[in-house]
Amino acid sequence: MTGTDTAATGDPAAPVLLFDSGVGGLSVLRKVRDVLPQAPVIYVADNAGLPYGTKTEAQIAARVSGLLGRLTERLRPRLVCIACNTASTIALASVREVLEVPIVGTVPAIKPAAAMTRTGVIGLLGTAATIRQGYVDRLEAEFAADKRLLRHGAPELVAAAEAKLRGETVDSAVYARAAEALRAHPDGDRIDTVVLACTHFPLIEDELRKAFGPGVSFIDGSDGIARQIVFLTQGQEWRREAPDLALFTRGGIDVDQLGSTLEAHGLERVAIF
Ligand code: DGL
Repeated sequence: MTGTDTAATGDPAAPVLLFDSGVGGLSVLRKVRDVLPQAPVIYVADNAGLPYGTKTEAQIAARVSGLLGRLTERLRPRLVCIACNTASTIALASVREVLEVPIVGTVPAIKPAAAMTRTGVIGLLGTAATIRQGYVDRLEAEFAADKRLLRHGAPELVAAAEAKLRGETVDSAVYARAAEALRAHPDGDRIDTVVLACTHFPLIEDELRKAFGPGVSFIDGSDGIARQIVFLTQGQEWRREAPDLALFTRGGIDVDQLGSTLEAHGLERVAIF
């Protein structure tokens, strides 16, 4: 992942490809739009594999490397962003080894959280797969060794974010359960900072904020990702030759219901990969 890799892509219409299991990566896309509104984007949701967070490491690694291999071959992006903590913490290193294209991953925002916390107690909400990764242990050891990092895997929050973006009403008990589960850890009542370590969760930040109550700040990695994409593409030209595209690995009613959400994120075409 270097600037010279990106410079090799001469085509100004070459897109940035954002990849997630579902709609979570839209929380990253909106930050990318803020800083690079002129960038052509292809958003890929592997909804046939959703959710990743309850799968094994081997299943996720095989799925993500296989799909990204086929996607980059077919779509020739200038840069791939794995806008998914689960896929990044498990498969980023192996995907980087096999693909030529620069790859930006999603790292749980433990470092900024450690700088933010005043009580020294940080909550981390992710998928079950993410919270058990050595990647997270290493971030904790490097940046939060003098803090308490309390982790909770919350698959039902992934489903809640998907449902919300399809326009469905979600029972607020789902958010309350996640807050209670983190608070139930020893020292959990002192949490003042929560890392949203799943790209789906910034999409339900307002609901989580209500569930946690006042005095709790939330942080996720999307600003850092957007900055990294800007850095890796600096000096490159952009030309949008067609409306931006959302690709799904499976069609169906759930994709149809996402129409207005996708449009609101500037994804005017939808197709199945
Ligand atoms: N959005 C994904 C993440 O950031 C995972 C959701 C899932 O498929 O479980 O971890």
